Amino acid sequence: MKVVVLTIFPELMQAFWENGIMRRAIESGAVAAQAVNIRDFAQGRHKVTDDRPYGGGCGMVMKPEPLAAALRDVKQQTPGALTLLMSPQGRCFDQAMAREMAAHEALVIVCGRYEGVDERFSEQFVDGEVSIGDFVLTGGEVAAMVVMDAVVRLLPGVLGNEDSAEQDSFGHQRLDHAHYTRPPEFEGRPVPEVLLSGHHERISEWRRADALLRTFARRPDLLHGATLSKEEIALLGAWHRELESIIRSQGGSGPDSPPGGGQER
Ligand code: ADE
Repeated sequence: MKVVVLTIFPELMQAFWENGIMRRAIESGAVAAQAVNIRDFAQGRHKVTDDRPYGGGCGMVMKPEPLAAALRDVKQQTPGALTLLMSPQGRCFDQAMAREMAAHEALVIVCGRYEGVDERFSEQFVDGEVSIGDFVLTGGEVAAMVVMDAVVRLLPGVLGNEDSAEQDSFGHQRLDHAHYTRPPEFEGRPVPEVLLSGHHERISEWRRADALLRTFARRPDLLHGATLSKEEIALLGAWHRELESIIRSQGGSGPDSPPGGGQER
């Protein structure tokens, strides 16, 4: 996959590309990464890339001409690329989007700065705006790294173990199970015994149950959209019965009764 990042801070991308899995992905040829400096396509002695907003107000807006010139140049060399603009107004990035993007031969990621980019550039040149969450960064570069990281690890051969991208959180609407490494006891906290048993089937069973429990406790919304296995439905049923029995032992009468167990009415 080819990834081209349009930015006024191309040096920001270098450390990201020169370390860890990203570096390995580039060295193996799975990814070709390039940063293009938008300023190189700006006109005049000062190579200005931003200007004051029409209609007034604070902040600056990225001018459309340098962005358009930079993108035209990139698209000439990478004609079929999907062009994304990082923006807090974009569609919220998630694992499904990462998978969609990983299916493309090439991505062009445009990083905005200041208050944003001139809307006409975005309308004319961008296939989609992408946000990495409901907060505002000072620019799109860090957001572009987030997207690249999530996409690149899905490319065939990038992660050592082919199925480790399959196994992890959100791969199938579940959070990941807990992970442990040596020592077997850390500051009084032991590793769950089953993980030391060497019994592969029981370990897998424990991991599936732990993943389900963590998803239920932290992100129950994910389970509403998931297709549950018979084993998972049985586990949820068992927990449900256990919870009902705890609630009953406290004088409550189960989840269908009004708050307070309906005792005071
Ligand atoms: N640029 C500024 N904030 C952003 C965000 N939340 N997501 C993507 N790009 C951004």
